[in-house]
Amino acid sequence: MNTELVHKVTQAFQEKFGSEPLIISSPGRINIIGEHTDYNEGFVFPAAIDKGIIAAIGKSSSPNCTAFALDAQETYEFALDAIEPITNGNWKNFVVGVVGELQKKGIVVQPFDVVFAGDLPKGAGLSSSAALENSIVFGLNELFQLNLTKHEMIAISQKAEHNYVGVRCGIMDQYASMFGVEDSALLLDCRAQESKSYKLDFKEYGIMLINTNVSHNLVDAEYNDRRHVCEKVANLLKIDFLRDATEEGLKAIEDQLTPVEYQKALYVLQENERVLNSGKAIENDDLDALGQLLFEAHDGAQHQFKISCPELDFLVEQAKMHPQVKGARMMGGGFGGCTINIVHRDAMDSYATDISEKYLKTYGKHCSIYKVKLSQGTHLIQN
Ligand code: GLA
Repeated sequence: MNTELVHKVTQAFQEKFGSEPLIISSPGRINIIGEHTDYNEGFVFPAAIDKGIIAAIGKSSSPNCTAFALDAQETYEFALDAIEPITNGNWKNFVVGVVGELQKKGIVVQPFDVVFAGDLPKGAGLSSSAALENSIVFGLNELFQLNLTKHEMIAISQKAEHNYVGVRCGIMDQYASMFGVEDSALLLDCRAQESKSYKLDFKEYGIMLINTNVSHNLVDAEYNDRRHVCEKVANLLKIDFLRDATEEGLKAIEDQLTPVEYQKALYVLQENERVLNSGKAIENDDLDALGQLLFEAHDGAQHQFKISCPELDFLVEQAKMHPQVKGARMMGGGFGGCTINIVHRDAMDSYATDISEKYLKTYGKHCSIYKVKLSQGTHLIQN
């Protein structure tokens, strides 16, 4: 936990509102494997990390709510009887979105104040949005004793993203942030919304993230477009979600699809298989197999689902050539953000230096390297 951040956020709340807040820690996430499978009710393998959002929340003495984004130094005051999506509202939509979705469920939210800040790099695809949504819904649940279950809370967070932010995301990010388990990744069945936690111990290998610093923008129609293609194919197959499709079934309707649509649907089927096989590889301590699955996943994301970008492809190509990297792939929604790499611990520093130089030389900009610790999910850290 970032104690400095906790201190900063608590102090800012006390100064601004003159009372003692509840403090919530809500993590970002990585994903070992399984992209764009969550909204197809398939499988993903995320983990909460030791970076995220710290929120200080308390009852307001005024009739309105005040939200203060400490990093951006922006304040937003709003009335509870006029909650609506805000055009170009940025972080504000995550806050009012959660409130609006709670109200839609008939839950009465009383006036509250919140201050938040984070230590997740912006636009890196580490789910700062889910972390923020979860911190707000979790904080309100504690503050007003709403008795919501964690599953109910993540559904609220996800709907806030759909209806206020405009991204029709799946459940992976909110689930991982809320349910994260220390030192573990969660093999999540997105249909049942149940996960099995796997303690990740790669012994002499570790996870290294490399951020392209190409900022992905999920609202960018591309994400919703991928979801639309999946829904179209599912419709043609007369099933609700691609989770239930088979390669034979897909083959049978190939002539009704463009080659691009066919490949996208096929990717989803294959990616689901890869997630399940990754679980087996980890159970068998078979890091070679896991690494290979990561490379294959990237290949599918690049050529079939078409959600990569040259910078991500470059980083994965470099990883393939390095004898001490077991596997690598782009991570998250795509079009930028980070690659996840399984690298020998002895080689991490030299690989970081080497890749940074090559990246700078090729693209004229810097990449960033992060080592993360797998952590527990959204929780109250101070009363
Ligand atoms: C974003 C979405 C998730 C998921 C990933 C891709 O992070 O929020 O729901 O679809 O992209 O796997």
